[in-house]
Amino acid sequence: MVGPTGRPLTNFPEPQPLESHGPARIIAMVNQKGGVGKTTSTINLAAALAEYGRKVLLVDFDPQGALSAGFGTNPHELDITVYNVLLERKTSIHDAILGTDIENIDLLPANIDLSAAEVQLVNEVAREQVLERALRKVSDDYDVILIDCQPSLGLLTVNALTAAHGVIIPLTAEFFALRAVALLVETIDKVQDRLNPSLQVDGVLATMYDARTLHSREVIGRLVEAFGDQVFETVIKRTIKFADANVAAEPITSYATNHPGAESYRMLAKELISRGGAP
Ligand SMILES: Nc1ncnc2c1ncn2[C@@H]1O[C@H](COP(=O)(O)OP(=O)(O)OP(=O)(O)O)[C@@H](O)[C@H]1O
Ligand SMILES: [Mg+2]
Repeated sequence: MVGPTGRPLTNFPEPQPLESHGPARIIAMVNQKGGVGKTTSTINLAAALAEYGRKVLLVDFDPQGALSAGFGTNPHELDITVYNVLLERKTSIHDAILGTDIENIDLLPANIDLSAAEVQLVNEVAREQVLERALRKVSDDYDVILIDCQPSLGLLTVNALTAAHGVIIPLTAEFFALRAVALLVETIDKVQDRLNPSLQVDGVLATMYDARTLHSREVIGRLVEAFGDQVFETVIKRTIKFADANVAAEPITSYATNHPGAESYRMLAKELISRGGAP
């Protein structure tokens, strides 16, 4: 059977249980365009990886705190967040990490404090490597660390790209969404060149896909033309269930465990693992 990307659909193997954990593969979820499914994909890819026994740390790297809220925390009531870890020597990353209701998922939360970091970090020595240094201390405790970036290509996102081994680019299946990608690819190239030579693009993830429209199908065609095999075979369909799960502060994999939306993030997790993007 041919999938939305025009390639035959692969039956990705069930991930084998891991015998030991860490060091983590770090993946930044990046697109400077807002509302493309970065946070939704971070939550649900993490939940699917966690179902396969992977230990996951989620880093909320957006002052809006949507990822933190997505796990039922009220980010604005938190005293210690990723902001304190980045900017205060006395705060250890261990003090900021929270457990979640989902087994195998921990959270490094963020709130509006983080919006000041962009300016404050400018004066730091090695300002692009601050997140990398912090994550190094917990890397051995996790199999995967996913960083949910804010919709910008500023210094925080550059920190995420510098800390990461790979990038996942979520993108809505709409023509106007394609335009933002050129600038993003340029930024990734610069970071590879100057800060993180081993950074890889793990994949481009089409979200909010509507199989009934020619438009959606054409956009995927264009994506495949531009990115080839980097486009994940897994495509996330548009469904209101993601918003419902978000209101319930749960991943879709637990909120509606048999829903096709949950299945698609399980397929993404399997695809990522089979490509070597996660252990
Ligand atoms: N596959 C989908 N189908 C329908 N709605 C979706 C889907 N994925 C995400 N959404 C909804 O679209 C909105 C934006 O998604 P999300 O917050 O994940 O994007 P984002 O890229 O993180 O946005 P921002 O750039 O503002 O951080 C949310 O209301 C979310 O519930
Ligand atoms: Mg977001």
